Amino acid sequence: MLSRSPSSRPVEIVPSTLAADFSRLGDEVATLERAGADRIQWDVMDGEFVPNLTFGPDVIASVRSITSLPFEAHLMVNSPAALLRRFVDAGCEFLIVHVEACTHLHRTLGQIRETGASPGVALNPATGPEAIAHVMDLLDLVLVMTVNPGFGGQRYLTSMEPKIAEVSRLIEESGRDIDLEVDGGISPATIGGAAAAGANLFVSGSALFSHPGGLREATKELRRLAEERSGRREDPG
Ligand code: DX5
Repeated sequence: MLSRSPSSRPVEIVPSTLAADFSRLGDEVATLERAGADRIQWDVMDGEFVPNLTFGPDVIASVRSITSLPFEAHLMVNSPAALLRRFVDAGCEFLIVHVEACTHLHRTLGQIRETGASPGVALNPATGPEAIAHVMDLLDLVLVMTVNPGFGGQRYLTSMEPKIAEVSRLIEESGRDIDLEVDGGISPATIGGAAAAGANLFVSGSALFSHPGGLREATKELRRLAEERSGRREDPG
């Protein structure tokens, strides 16, 4: 399988529902689709792996039929292997587990593939790319956290950009079609640095939902900035 160079991996804007109005979750999901989002990320938190508690598979399942957008479950939970089937049955096509939460990461990624979902792995800021060097053949996605997980609205860690570039090189060396996603503090001011470092999937919550121009304008601006800085389109100067 030939790997796509960073500039050939398509840019995708991935809203995080963590910043959505939970009292209108169905409407928010429908609005995100109309706004041009490429997929939706569900930040699943267990109150142990991260100091916050959010939603489980039943909440995700409740809005599955409202949109045709792919769902990715960002499982910020300890021992995620026991929950994989629940999130697939809820309608998630991508399951992202944290390397720090998996005693047997190689086995867990294989279990995700066996469910029919796409396996992804997330790296916390302190975790180096070497943690996934021996599982690249099992992956469809690597998520480099650009904040410490647990809450939206945090400051983007520019110090993660060299790591994004290292992961991008690892993907290229693997020769596999693996997407490089970033998550945390992604906004019009920060997306360019992450794109230039090699990311092609961009999770955004607070910056997207609080954009003065609304969700459609926010999605459009983030996509344009990412494509310009990643060399996927001519920069109009
Ligand atoms: C952190 C969460 C957030 C969320 C995006 O655990 O994973 O990164 O998805 O939040 P913002 O875009 O507000 O940083």
